[in-house]
Amino acid sequence: MIDVRKLREETPGTRNVIHLNNAGSSLMPQPVIDAIHRYLDHEIGYGGYETQRAFVAELEGVYDTIAELINADSSEIAVSDSATRAWDMAFYSMRFDEGDRILTTTTEYVSNWVAYLHLRATKGITVDVVPNTPTGEIDVEALELMIDGDVRLITLNHIPTNSGVVNPVVEVGRVARTHGIPYLLDASQSIGQLPIDVTEIGCDMLSGTSRKYLRGPRGEGFLYVRSDFLPRLDPVFVELHTAPVVLPDRYELRDDARRFETWEKNHANVLGMSVAARYAMDIGIDAIWERIEILAGAARRLLGEIDGVTVRDLGALRCGIVTFEVEGREVLEVREWLSERSINVSTSTALSAPVDMHERGIEGLVRVSFHAFNTEEEVEMLVEAMKAI
Ligand SMILES: Cc1ncc(COP(=O)(O)O)c(C=O)c1O
Repeated sequence: MIDVRKLREETPGTRNVIHLNNAGSSLMPQPVIDAIHRYLDHEIGYGGYETQRAFVAELEGVYDTIAELINADSSEIAVSDSATRAWDMAFYSMRFDEGDRILTTTTEYVSNWVAYLHLRATKGITVDVVPNTPTGEIDVEALELMIDGDVRLITLNHIPTNSGVVNPVVEVGRVARTHGIPYLLDASQSIGQLPIDVTEIGCDMLSGTSRKYLRGPRGEGFLYVRSDFLPRLDPVFVELHTAPVVLPDRYELRDDARRFETWEKNHANVLGMSVAARYAMDIGIDAIWERIEILAGAARRLLGEIDGVTVRDLGALRCGIVTFEVEGREVLEVREWLSERSINVSTSTALSAPVDMHERGIEGLVRVSFHAFNTEEEVEMLVEAMKAI
């Protein structure tokens, strides 16, 4: 059982706002804030390089902690300044050729989608979108039927940015493994929200972000690359940390996933992400997920009962993201209305997940996203505010 009162005491932001934008950027808990302050204070007082040396053990700990969070080995983890860059490093290092096919979902996050379009335009790859089941997640049978000798990658997000869907990533992994096709999973919206086990999922690469359900700082993310898949990627960039020069005219690529990093880092953020991951594991990811499902389920039901509000979530299994439209109101108007009542929510525009929003004919959605520190009273206050709009 989660001690919600303790979680809120440890989350200063809960004293100011009703924060229902955890899928955008959550509120950092005190241990994360303290770690970042401690690091920055040391940096201010003693210098950047010197502080890095003083904190070396704690900074190294991030690899073990993220590995533990997703059941990987620490050599399979790289840190990055965002999930997008982490994902890019994996995706572009696939070095596609003309005629290669990638299979993906209708609900791809726009940055990933635009990367597919970029390689379609520059490399001549084919981007094929796998249809959904009637409940809105990737149709695994359809995926399997679409596989042929040209498919070089299966790439999808675990939880889309703009609906309640949780994709069946383990089943996708089974198909990928059966056919020996590389599998890249974007776990930006799921990491910290629900349990993730890369061994069970069977993905070769996975990206995650710090600031959302992990409750770490902004500007930080990570990449997982399975160790025996690592040699199959040709890093798109190399530099002194990732490919040390061993002779004046020779370099050697690092033999771990850190070959996808950069030497320069925001170390305070790295530490913050590490502490955030430990904090989440100490609470228990299963317990966090259980509470998120309860809060989001209640919000869906209560919002759906309000005249003029239409909940647009999909998914046989639904997550902490609840999306809705309000008759006669622009989504930004709704966000503003709620903001005036100290309720933080965000919006998904038609461009956030372009294929999905276009197929469903949706211009924009209000997006409310719950975390374990939210309360039933906050759900009620949201519902009351929406009744009054
Ligand atoms: C599904 C998905 N992938 C990737 C990202 C990008 O994460 P970051 O901003 O850390 O690069 C987001 C952010 O909203 C997302 O929703």
